[in-house]
Amino acid sequence: MSILVTGGAGYIGSHTCVELLNAGHEIVVVDNFSNSKPESLKRITELTKKEYKFYEVDLLDKKALETVFCENQIEAVIHFAGLKAVGESVEIPLHYYYNNITGTLILCEVMKKYDVKKMVFSSSATVYGFPKHVPITEDFPLAATNPYGRTKLMIEEILKDLHSSDNNWGIALLRYFNPIGAHESGRIGEDPNGIPNNLMPYINQVAIGKLDKLNVFGSDYDTHDGTGVRDYIHVVDLAKGHLKALEKIISTTGIDAFNLGTGVGYSVLDVIKNFEHVTSQRIAYSFTHRRSGDIDKCYADTTKAMKELGWKATKNLEDMCRDSWRWQRSNPKGYEEETFK
Ligand code: NAD
Ligand code: WQD
Repeated sequence: MSILVTGGAGYIGSHTCVELLNAGHEIVVVDNFSNSKPESLKRITELTKKEYKFYEVDLLDKKALETVFCENQIEAVIHFAGLKAVGESVEIPLHYYYNNITGTLILCEVMKKYDVKKMVFSSSATVYGFPKHVPITEDFPLAATNPYGRTKLMIEEILKDLHSSDNNWGIALLRYFNPIGAHESGRIGEDPNGIPNNLMPYINQVAIGKLDKLNVFGSDYDTHDGTGVRDYIHVVDLAKGHLKALEKIISTTGIDAFNLGTGVGYSVLDVIKNFEHVTSQRIAYSFTHRRSGDIDKCYADTTKAMKELGWKATKNLEDMCRDSWRWQRSNPKGYEEETFK
């Protein structure tokens, strides 16, 4: 029996594939490379010394997806495939709704047809909208502030309806906080297209000299130093959370949401200082106006994941900065070109 990983060539998917293979799972990966490169798949094999099946398939292509289920004995699906850039989702909302929601609907239809009723879904802390306080527990009111966030919220609702219609489904909604870092080998990591939107890849590109300086969005938030506070989580810890969620859904039915974060909030300035400290690179920055839609503080209460999944993040901000930089330094152009060491 295999675990199907949709979006397995991407940032979080590739790290999860490594953990799955290392734990002895057989996996089948599908990806359409809309936001990833085939090189990441080669490196999964390089790191694990294990082979696995890959299909270049778009989830919107139902026939091609059916072939994957027909040719493999799928036990459960870890569903990462989706578009994730908040700003882009505002520019091209229909594309986001179509890709993320229709892609998930087609996946669920095919799963149902092949009697595969176990899914771990990549949700996001974005479903908490503007939380009224922190730390955030899973029972907080849900809201979304942009089309990307609405796709996550709608998919959560769709999956809840699916479970209500047939309670043989076992579904985990994993609400990630801010994933950063990279595999400690430096061989896989985050490889954004163009100018990064997110903080850590931006800092990395300033450190490598690709960008001149970081714009810190806002200095007057209600936080310890005025800059935005987030719950950064190491991508390898996050990947391990998927294995714990998988264990749970394979042995039970039901639908449940879990926060995956560390439970600790760090400001933008904390991240810069930490990065400078562990990498000895100076990060030039200046303050600019707040970014529209940003909130002051966002961090998780992780009690539920600890109690019900037996999962807890183990890596700290220093590990995250060190591993992000190792990936960036040894792959200055991401997966695009031959790396130098
Ligand atoms: P990513 O873009 O690196 O990976 C997503 C992968 O899905 C890519 O390889 C892309 O090519 C593929 N894909 C997209 N649409 C597809 C389709 N229709 N058919 C087949 N493949 C498709 O993103 P990531 O950071 O690894 O995120 C993985 C998931 O986690 C996404 O659903 C994202 O929304 C969610 N998430 C990410 C973050 C984050 O900050 N990175 C936070 C919360 C939630
Ligand atoms: C972190 C902090 C910024 C860039 C996003 C999505 C969310 C989820 C995770 C998918 C904030 C500040 C950033 C920069 C800055 N993704 N910042 N200068 O916004 O918390 O969350 O990624 O689900 O949905 O919205 O992450 O990394 O963009 O920002 O000062 O150039 O860094 O204001 O305080 P965010 P981020």
